[in-house]
Amino acid sequence: MSKSPWRKKPISAYQAEMKKSELNRVLGRWGLTSLGIGAIIGGGIFTLTGIAAHDHAGPALALSFVIAGVGCLFASLCYAEFSSVLPVEGSAYAYSYGTMGEIFAWIIGWNLILEYMMGATTVAVAWSGYFEKLLHQNGIDPPMWLMNDPVTAAEKAADAGVAAPAFAFNLPALLITWVVTSILIKGIKEAAKTNNLIVILKVAVVLFVIFVGFFFIDTDNYTPFIPEQVIDDTGKSHFGWSGVITAATIVFFAYIGFDAVSTQAGEAKNPKKDVPFAIVMSLVICTILYIIVSLVLTGMVKYNQLDLKAPVASAFEGVGMPWATVLITIAAVAGLTSVMLVMMLGQTRIFLGMAKDGLLPPKIFGKIHPKYKTPYISTILVGLVVSIVAAVTPIDKVSEMCSMGTLLAFSMISIAVVVLRVKQPNLERPFKTPALFIIGPLGALFNIGLMYFVRPETWVAFLIWTGLGVVVYFLYSRRKSNLNDPNYLASLKGHDGIVEASENLTKED
Ligand code: ALA
Repeated sequence: MSKSPWRKKPISAYQAEMKKSELNRVLGRWGLTSLGIGAIIGGGIFTLTGIAAHDHAGPALALSFVIAGVGCLFASLCYAEFSSVLPVEGSAYAYSYGTMGEIFAWIIGWNLILEYMMGATTVAVAWSGYFEKLLHQNGIDPPMWLMNDPVTAAEKAADAGVAAPAFAFNLPALLITWVVTSILIKGIKEAAKTNNLIVILKVAVVLFVIFVGFFFIDTDNYTPFIPEQVIDDTGKSHFGWSGVITAATIVFFAYIGFDAVSTQAGEAKNPKKDVPFAIVMSLVICTILYIIVSLVLTGMVKYNQLDLKAPVASAFEGVGMPWATVLITIAAVAGLTSVMLVMMLGQTRIFLGMAKDGLLPPKIFGKIHPKYKTPYISTILVGLVVSIVAAVTPIDKVSEMCSMGTLLAFSMISIAVVVLRVKQPNLERPFKTPALFIIGPLGALFNIGLMYFVRPETWVAFLIWTGLGVVVYFLYSRRKSNLNDPNYLASLKGHDGIVEASENLTKED
């Protein structure tokens, strides 16, 4: 086989790998759904809702959640079909390798690093913010230089009219990353158990906000529902319909995570059926919760008085329920931990998929711990990068990079699933995306459309990152790919017939 960057991985290769998987198959459909919810509900709803409503959408924040939610729903349906055809741990990376070619797959895998690692980093920083609030609530005030990255510390010092500290780093963000890393090394079963407990707490608190907050809604706060449009000096739109869309790009972060379910296929008991179910179910549950929470929140507090750092928790201070603020802060701290857990877990499983294909060094990213059965070296590396970046980088920089990587993956998957349906219509699909030829293109259009609204600086950083990825591909991955190895190819039955291979898969299932 030539070293063409457009070569595709035969589906029979996925089949062979699934059989050889060393990971423990312990996750059922609700365990997977819980992992999805664990990854979804986090910094987006607990933190970003404040900025989105206060600065951009006003009470129409709920509409922003609907817009972002619909786009994600399209993408999730495409993910679901793919995960039923290829129930493997590499997620969007693996799906594009089988359908669009190695170079596409590599670029997506490379950008998924932004989604998962930068997502975990963003949440580590948000975690630190909530943790600090918790300390304040208990009368503890740690020094600023120990709780913030250097840029944020300098900004805070300037606001307070004091000299910037000579040295600053975000210690809580660093420490929580290592706690999560240790849980992940120990094993998926422990991680899933911890996650289930946190998900119950997190959903309970969200329901508390909905049912208790409902009684404090003042309908006057909904007028005007979409405040009049203003364009600021930087050209950014506030309020009006374009403000609602800008807010949708911000709250998009709140939905990231449903696709993390697809990275757990290697650990699912019945991946072909349960993974698609969990992807769609976790997103639908969270979309409904988000829309209602945003309506309650903007009904409780006038949009221009919302707190920017902890809007949900602070809404209950204003109605004379300070104990509820403490409760929500505790749930947010726990809830953000579970987002990190799933994001970092997902990252190591994507690396594992890429290492198995030879595109990343298997001795590092594919090495499984003999006792815990987890990819421990890769987990430690991910912990190292996330903890260092989280300790020294401001939150907005990392969250936008995360959204960019995710939007690219969602767009590509929405296209790839249509390509596969056209090229291989007879492939067995336990889950079929309904009205795919409408939903796929709409999913791609929507996600590419949102990329258009991301700031130019983020675009530059994103293009540099992608360029770096292309260099690594041509210097390392293309040369080391398993597809160069004739023995590997010969070991795959029907390796050049995607349909034939899939039929084997069906029969043997
Ligand atoms: N959706 C996740 C969050 O909001 C990434 O924290």
